[in-house]
Amino acid sequence: MNLELTNRILTNETYCKELDRLRKLEKDRVFCGHDIEHFLDVARIVMIICMEKNIEVEPDVIYSASLLHDIGRSEEYTENIPHHIAGKKKAEKILDETGCCEDMKKKILSLIFNHSNEDNEKDSPESIFYTADKKSRLCFACASRDICNWHENRKNIKIEV
Ligand SMILES: [Fe+2]
Repeated sequence: MNLELTNRILTNETYCKELDRLRKLEKDRVFCGHDIEHFLDVARIVMIICMEKNIEVEPDVIYSASLLHDIGRSEEYTENIPHHIAGKKKAEKILDETGCCEDMKKKILSLIFNHSNEDNEKDSPESIFYTADKKSRLCFACASRDICNWHENRKNIKIEV
């Protein structure tokens, strides 16, 4: 599987600094974190859903978008800017720095911008990405489940395949 862009992002200096900043801001967070494990969980779940539904996606686009999709969380915490908006802007800079082509950039930025949007077109990559982001959370094993603001019927209370 060709994950060339994904691996360029992973070692990009701006990206590493942003991840470090986010890690510090979430140091005392009791709810789900937005770290590299979450990003990879999202990417892998997207790939599984796409395989099950026979939907063709470019792995490098999915993994790159996964690495970047929550990078705007820092601005949401410090400046109250919705993270899909702050994240898209930051991701664009990182994608330019990593030499991403325009076609992939457009797809990746759309995934980032729409990853919190419940109204994406059914079975679109954006809709699958949204689902994977939610499904990645292990509510059934979470110590903060009772104080989490996710609606009770949206929490993942059992393991599903
Ligand atoms: Fe996420």
